[in-house]
Amino acid sequence: MTANITALRRAFEQQFGRAPELIAEAPGRVNLIGEHTDYNGGFVLPVAIDRTVAVAMATRDDGVIRAFSVDYGQCDEFPAERVRRFMGTRGGWRDYTRGVVWALLDAHIPVPGVDIAITGDVPQGAGLSSSAAIEVAVAGALMAGTGIAARDLALLCQKAENLFAGIGCGIMDQFTSVMGQRDHALFIDCRSLQSELVPLLEDIAIVIVDSKIPRKLADTAFNRRREECAEAARALGVDSLRDADESMLPRLSGDLLKRARHVVTENTRVLSAIEALRSSDVVTLGRLLHESHASLRDDFEVSTPELDLLVELASRLDGVVGARLTGAGFGGCTVNLVREEAVGQVREAIVVEYNKQTGLAANVHVCVAVDGLRVSDA
Ligand code: GLA
Repeated sequence: MTANITALRRAFEQQFGRAPELIAEAPGRVNLIGEHTDYNGGFVLPVAIDRTVAVAMATRDDGVIRAFSVDYGQCDEFPAERVRRFMGTRGGWRDYTRGVVWALLDAHIPVPGVDIAITGDVPQGAGLSSSAAIEVAVAGALMAGTGIAARDLALLCQKAENLFAGIGCGIMDQFTSVMGQRDHALFIDCRSLQSELVPLLEDIAIVIVDSKIPRKLADTAFNRRREECAEAARALGVDSLRDADESMLPRLSGDLLKRARHVVTENTRVLSAIEALRSSDVVTLGRLLHESHASLRDDFEVSTPELDLLVELASRLDGVVGARLTGAGFGGCTVNLVREEAVGQVREAIVVEYNKQTGLAANVHVCVAVDGLRVSDA
């Protein structure tokens, strides 16, 4: 699956009475390992997935932006040059389109008047970065042909999310949505913003299980974790927890010790997971995923009973290499690495047992790694 481009073109024509000039498409992401490390200058290993947001666009000469959400049937109209921070309805899709326009203007990049139509199939509120996909698709369309560097585009989108939508996310989601590559995970050093492609294993599928417990990133919990990490870094006298190591941890106590211990050990796990992937060592890879989950549950305290249950159910099944919660936590999804031949059985077993124990109907997305932002003539 990915966004339906044919339906998008048709919706654009119906809404605006003319044909679009270009299409920009940007993927959601799932993180294999390296959670809550990005805003600590650390390491992450995400994958851009085949669930995308697509934007059709045509320019206007009156400086007005008309943005139409095909999926919500809603239109937002505003003069491009007059977008101010926090003028949107916080949390809705408009925040992401307006946020991108604001971030561009704030960086002194002129924004033309445009008609845009947006559609997508990235599950929302599930921790698969539907908001980053909107930002990247919109920014990719607005910046088409300007030669803007991929990493600058990602940073502008992150700024839209941080300062306009008000969520203190790191760079992982937007960077992956721009730079992801087919058949590969993306190792990102979130301090230097250097990245490296890591080939995925051919016979191992990426199975995402949505707990159906909605995750509200804007909730104070995410921003609170970020503050705690900054506080732990200050207490250790380092710029960020990237610079901390295990020998320093005894200088902390209580929650700060737990948060820092997660970040320090998770960074190490990302590096080990890359080695394991490169040497097709699925046993080690699986162990690292489980350790990551335990650390997020016990030290970072962002899991939920439902996510713990999904991981536990998966780990009992044949063919599952490893499982952990993915994304910010507080609900959302688990990521499971599953041998291709076992995907059907694993999917069925998890959904049935999860329903029996919680009454909830988990959604399963079997995903492949795709390329990041793609822009083409319509
Ligand atoms: C959210 C944020 C990311 C990252 C993850 C946790 O997805 O948007 O930047 O911090 O949580 O790893």
